[in-house]
Amino acid sequence: MCGIMGYVGGRPAKNIIYAGLQRLEYRGYDSAGIALLGKTVQTTKAVGDTSQLDMEALNSKLTMGIGHTRWATHGKPSIPNAHPHTFGAVTLVHNGIIENYEDLKELIDTTKLKSQTDSEVLAGVIDYYLKKSGNLLDATKQALAEVRGTFGIAVISPEAPGQIVVARRGSPLVIGVDENQHYVASDSAAIVDHTDKVIYLKDDQIALITADSLELYDLKLNHQNISVETLEEPGQTLDLDGYASYLEKEIHEQPTSLKNAMLGRVLSDGSIKLSGPNLTQEDIMGLENILIIGCGTAYNAGYYAKYQLEKMLGIPVSIEHASEFRYRYGAYDAKNTLAIFMSQSGETADTIASLREAKRRNMKTIGIINSVGSTIAREVSHGGIYLHAGLESSVASTKAYSSMVTALLMLGGMISYKSGKDAMVTQTVAHELEALTKEIEHTLKLQPQIEKLARKLSKYHDWYFLGRGPLYPVAMEGALKITEVAYVHAQAFATGEMKHGPIALIDDKHLSVVLLPEDPLLYKKSLSTLEEIKARGGNVLTVSTRPKEEASDHHIEVAHNGEYTDGLIYNVCLQLLTLAVATKKGQNIDRPRNLAKSVTVE
Ligand code: AGP
Repeated sequence: MCGIMGYVGGRPAKNIIYAGLQRLEYRGYDSAGIALLGKTVQTTKAVGDTSQLDMEALNSKLTMGIGHTRWATHGKPSIPNAHPHTFGAVTLVHNGIIENYEDLKELIDTTKLKSQTDSEVLAGVIDYYLKKSGNLLDATKQALAEVRGTFGIAVISPEAPGQIVVARRGSPLVIGVDENQHYVASDSAAIVDHTDKVIYLKDDQIALITADSLELYDLKLNHQNISVETLEEPGQTLDLDGYASYLEKEIHEQPTSLKNAMLGRVLSDGSIKLSGPNLTQEDIMGLENILIIGCGTAYNAGYYAKYQLEKMLGIPVSIEHASEFRYRYGAYDAKNTLAIFMSQSGETADTIASLREAKRRNMKTIGIINSVGSTIAREVSHGGIYLHAGLESSVASTKAYSSMVTALLMLGGMISYKSGKDAMVTQTVAHELEALTKEIEHTLKLQPQIEKLARKLSKYHDWYFLGRGPLYPVAMEGALKITEVAYVHAQAFATGEMKHGPIALIDDKHLSVVLLPEDPLLYKKSLSTLEEIKARGGNVLTVSTRPKEEASDHHIEVAHNGEYTDGLIYNVCLQLLTLAVATKKGQNIDRPRNLAKSVTVE
């Protein structure tokens, strides 16, 4: 999931590319590099993020070039392994994995290799064919014909002045179209400051762009129709707006992002109107199974919604890791199964592969997506719901989580109504959602209290997150967040599971975060687990809609909003807890080590 940015036009290229890479850093920030094309290629590279680049080394007069931010797949983060890679007369940036790069080395003089990367080998192969054909587009086409694997590439050469060749298979690329200048990037966020006219490259397409021309082909160089789209949502400003990090900003944006998710969809008369999912009345009446598929936080959002959709619709709702579903035979009757794909970026490789598998099995597929025009959004068979959460820049997903859950609650409410189930369900969901943003605003005011708590709790290295019913996936999301941002070793369990093994780890160095449910019976059962933890010297933080229990060491009290949405309120507390603990530990809040925002490799 690296980030690619390129520019060719009449303006100085280096700052355009640099600014574009900064917008793409969420995709990977192990290392970065920029190459500009004049009579020769001028390159600067650095380990770390773009701020480490020596921009003075680049000639401000040059008006075309390519750049890259890397998330290492082959070879550790280092200057030689950083992109752009130059081999002979060819310089390229690459996102993806070339599976047969060892075989391709037969075509090149490997003594010239300076890195351990598959990408540099690809540059060598293009150089090999450029020597034969003298044409950069043709040489790239011939090289890609030898490749097995995925790529999003941008290629330049002093032997093709004024030209950038771009091609895509499995790693997204979007071309920005402007008067006498063109851009290419992994994500429209890097282009949106310059133009809202874009062309999304499809798999196995290749393009030759210059300042004033654009030719689009398939990989056999047959001309392809060009469809220029207009970006629906010009990217939001990347400013921190006074917050200390994008994570904090995006946690606090949730009242607004949820309002945007519900705008025109949850109506004050208690109805829910969704025009995105293309499900006919017959589809809805025939629905027997729902499958929710995603990765990481998207998976956790789907897992929370599973409980709610089963309650609303009375049909089985399964939740699947995308990386598992794509290889697992599922005994679902495709005809009556709706497969829902959850993805903030819409570019997660495993989720895309699962979508294609579900379509192969003739399932109806819809997407719950934030990035407009992304691959999943464009490939689902029956439409979907855009979150309208705005750019989520921090690697850890927060506002997208709450908007994904909200989107699924709206979908459940709409299906419930259209399938003639209890009309009260839809009204209840709609009224809870209408009240939700206010309640989340109140919950955000707990930040100082949670920060104080974090000062005491950050000494614990091993945390359990425990929840029952829909609070179990909330516990999972809380554990994921604190793991990925604060590097705390955290595990989530269904509260009832503690006695079946996990309690063995409890001692006075261990912290259990116990999410106590609203339901009185389940609340009581959860209290017994709390007592069992205390009896073994464990430390406990509770979160509930009631005052602190005697047995609890620390407590966060939240408001009760309703059976379908309370989990979102508990979750905001856990987001604030992660932010506070990670800040206390001095971590890199928005760019945690080893992670990237969009996992576009398997
Ligand atoms: C979220 O905090 C994580 N960074 C990660 O688990 C993410 O949710 C996952 O990679 C899925 O991404 P997607 O929603 O863009 O598909």
